[in-house]
Amino acid sequence: MPNVRQLVQFKTSGKKIVALTAWDFAIAQILDAAGVDLILVGDSLAMVALGYENTLPLTLDEIIHHAKAVKRGVKSALIVVDLPFLSYQTSTEVAIQSAGRILKETGAQAVKLEGGYPKMVETIARMVEVGIPVMGHIGLTPQSVHQLGYRQQGKTEDDQDRLISAAIALERAGVFSIVLEHIPADLAKLISEKLSIPTIGIGAGVDCDGQILVTADLLGMTIRQPPFAKVYVDLRAIITQAVQAYSADVNS
Ligand code: KIV
Repeated sequence: MPNVRQLVQFKTSGKKIVALTAWDFAIAQILDAAGVDLILVGDSLAMVALGYENTLPLTLDEIIHHAKAVKRGVKSALIVVDLPFLSYQTSTEVAIQSAGRILKETGAQAVKLEGGYPKMVETIARMVEVGIPVMGHIGLTPQSVHQLGYRQQGKTEDDQDRLISAAIALERAGVFSIVLEHIPADLAKLISEKLSIPTIGIGAGVDCDGQILVTADLLGMTIRQPPFAKVYVDLRAIITQAVQAYSADVNS
């Protein structure tokens, strides 16, 4: 099982980090047995597993419930759990309490949170100080959907400078890795070159130190995938055919 330190060393050795999301025991078991390095219990589970419109309604109790199931299915991969909207933004104390609950109650090794603005960076530094491994997430941050939508970020020079500064500040605060979501490939490459911790890209080109996808998108289980998500199998069609075949058997 890689720990966060070993994951950082992947960057030095040139090994790309293979990361995917999981939301239950069965999916976690399959991903882990297939050799995925890092499993994220992402707050995307709000949409792919719980049918919410976006990630905002997800509660800490809900993600803990799912993370416990994922943990039971994993023998090798590093497990990172998202901190849901408003379980960390209001104060450093709240962030430490929420992250502490995740580590204590689920057995996961790290948490992920969105944003690289100064107050968040201060909070992260304190979380790391008390022993909580933190992964950052900048670029398209779905918890800010009502401000940013799901548009690509980092298109203007100002925005690019802001993202580069945020990545550097997050590294200084002690995050062990940063997710770069839906930003131009050349910007992701530049950020990856500037940092000594690994970047994990989603819709950020091939030059990040690892890649992550929402597993439901990769499997074709979601109705609409984001433009950058490659669908590797159309499981929705396969399941529909299987259910129709079963239905025909029952009826005859
Ligand atoms: O919630 C999630 O699945 C994520 C990934 C998109 C990185 O944060």
